[in-house]
Amino acid sequence: MGVFGTNGTGKTNTLELFAEEAVAAGKNLVFVNGKGDQEAEDDLYTLAKNNGYDFLLWSPSSKRHNFNYSLFQNKSAEYVTAMIMEIERYANAEATQSDSLHYKEITKRVVQLIVSTFIDANLPIDFGQLYAQSSQTGITNIVANNKKLSPVEKERQNAEIISMWKNKEIQTQWNLARNTFKLMANLDPNNDRLSWKNGRTLEDVIQSKRKTILLFNLDILGNPIDNARVARMFITDLKQNVRTVKNTGRQLMALFDEFGSFATMDMATLLEQGRSFGVNVVLSMQTISNLTNISREFASRILGNCNTRIIHRVMEDEGSE
Ligand SMILES: Nc1ncnc2c1ncn2[C@@H]1O[C@H](COP(=O)(O)OP(=O)(O)OP(=O)(O)O)[C@@H](O)[C@H]1O
Ligand SMILES: [Mg+2]
Repeated sequence: MGVFGTNGTGKTNTLELFAEEAVAAGKNLVFVNGKGDQEAEDDLYTLAKNNGYDFLLWSPSSKRHNFNYSLFQNKSAEYVTAMIMEIERYANAEATQSDSLHYKEITKRVVQLIVSTFIDANLPIDFGQLYAQSSQTGITNIVANNKKLSPVEKERQNAEIISMWKNKEIQTQWNLARNTFKLMANLDPNNDRLSWKNGRTLEDVIQSKRKTILLFNLDILGNPIDNARVARMFITDLKQNVRTVKNTGRQLMALFDEFGSFATMDMATLLEQGRSFGVNVVLSMQTISNLTNISREFASRILGNCNTRIIHRVMEDEGSE
C-alpha cells in the first residue's frame, strides 16, 4: 500500500492508524520513520506499553534505551558483504552503467576480503572494528595471527592483499569502503549496536513468543548521509527474512514513513514477495519523483505493487502520474 502527500497532509498520522490496527489484530510491527521525530517515537512507545508489546528501538538520537540490532549474526561472508554493499546502493547498481559495474566488482572484492578475513579469525563484525582493523596493515595482522591458517595459506593470503593494495583503483575503493565503516561507526555511538555477535537479529524478533514493536527512528531528512544507510540495510535484512514470518503464524506489519528518503531496490522485491508470506507493507512518500529519481523501472515496480493508494494533497504536476 502507498500513502502519498506533501508536508503536513497526514501521512504519518495515517501510518500510525495502521500501527494501531496491526496491534489490535495482534500482529508484530516494524516501523521505519524517516523523520526520526520524538512524537512518533512516544506514540509507538505508548501503543506498545498499553497493549503488552515489547518495544525495541534503534535510533542514533533517542534518550530511550536502544536495543542492539545484530545485522550480521550467523551470516555468511557473502550475506554480510551484500548488506555492506547495500549501504552505498552498490548492491543494485544499474547493470547498464559499465563504470558503476566495474567499481561495484572492485568494491565487492575488497569488502568480501575484509569480511571473510574477520569471519575466518572469529572476530566481531561491527563497524568500529571494521574501520579500526581494515587497513592494509590491520588485515595483514589478522591473517598473521589466525591460528587456523597454515603457513602456506597465510603466505597466499598476504600475497593477495599486497597485490590488491598495489593496484591504485583497488586501493581507492578500499579506502572508500573504510570510509563507509567509519561513517557507520560514528553514527552508532556505542560502536557495536550494528554488529555481528551482540544483540538480537531480525529473525529473533520475528520468531519471539512476545509481540513486538520494532522502531527505527532515523532523522534521514535531517541527516541523509548516514541514517539512510541504516534504513536501506534494514530493508535488505527484512527482504531476506520474509519467509520466516509465515512459519510463526503471526503476521507482520511493516510501515515505512518518508520512504522517498531511503528508497532502495530491495523494497520492490519485499513488496512483491511480502504479501504471500504474511508481511503487510505500507509506504509513505511525498512525491512519485522520489522514485523516478532512481529509475522509471524502479518507480513502476514500486507503484505496480502498491495495490491500494491513499492520496492526500500532492504536487500539481504529479496529478497525471
Ligand atoms: N485525520 C486527521 N484529522 C485531523 N487532523 C489530522 C489528521 N491527520 C493528520 N492531522 C494533523 O495534521 C498534521 C500533520 O499530520 P502528519 O504529521 O500526519 O502529516 P505528514 O504528512 O506526516 O506531515 P510531514 O510531511 O510533515 O511528515 C498533524 O498536526 C496532525 O495532527
Ligand atoms: Mg510525517
